[in-house]
Amino acid sequence: MVDQATEQSETRRLQPEGDSTLMQLHGVGKSFPAQTSGGGEVCILKGIDLRLERGERIAILGPSGCGKSTLLNLMGSLDRPTAGSIWFEGQDLGGLKERALARVRNKKIGFVFQQHHLLPQCSVLENVLLPTLAFGRSDRAVVQKAEALLARVGLSDHMGHFPGQLSGGECQRVAVVRALINDPVLLLADEPTGALDEENARAIGSLLIQLNEERGVTLVVVTHSRELALAVGSVHVLQHKRLERE
Ligand SMILES: Nc1ncnc2c1ncn2[C@@H]1O[C@H](COP(=O)(O)OP(=O)(O)OP(=O)(O)O)[C@@H](O)[C@H]1O
Ligand SMILES: [Mg+2]
Repeated sequence: MVDQATEQSETRRLQPEGDSTLMQLHGVGKSFPAQTSGGGEVCILKGIDLRLERGERIAILGPSGCGKSTLLNLMGSLDRPTAGSIWFEGQDLGGLKERALARVRNKKIGFVFQQHHLLPQCSVLENVLLPTLAFGRSDRAVVQKAEALLARVGLSDHMGHFPGQLSGGECQRVAVVRALINDPVLLLADEPTGALDEENARAIGSLLIQLNEERGVTLVVVTHSRELALAVGSVHVLQHKRLERE
């Protein structure tokens, strides 16, 4: 059955097929209800414009609390903007209902967080396969893909391990593989190296950049590390509620 919201979104497609633009943010703003007794709102993001081309990679730097995670959550459709619009593959995400939005998120977007968020009771292989369950696919081909990806990041010998038996850098590599298992077109990483020592941080940064180059997955990395931001290449700075190319 075709989802009504998906049908509705068909009429909202603006960009022609084959357009190299993957995502566009137009005047995006985000406010949260103020936690004070006086009510009102607190504005975190205002007038954010951004165009992401397919295969591009960018880094977002900014002081703590400036709204980087808030922005990444909006780009990953985990949250909705309170102003402006976000277009993904020519479709206005604001026009999608929750179910359709969840489908886009699961199929098209991969997330890597600062804390890897692996399930401690599941093995490495099971953690990687989790995002495929939504499609009811855990067939041999998917398992082989997971094994190949784990081999790609040097974890062939750790597939049966549990997260508690891995180093921080190894956990983060598993998290990267889990984010890639559904072949997303967009990979969003929120301080993926923040909890790692220098050597492991460098390794994860290089891995993300290599995956962008090898697989053409569009990459957005939020980081506090200027070294990683410069390695990624296209540095954007978020401050005073706005995003600017450095
Ligand atoms: N759901 C929410 N409700 C109310 N305020 C929120 C919510 N989410 C975030 N905020 C506020 O928005 C601001 C930005 O938070 P955010 O987590 O995006 O910052 P950040 O740039 O990622 O910071 P850090 O570098 O420390 O991770 C903070 O002041 C935070 O308290
Ligand atoms: Mg954050």
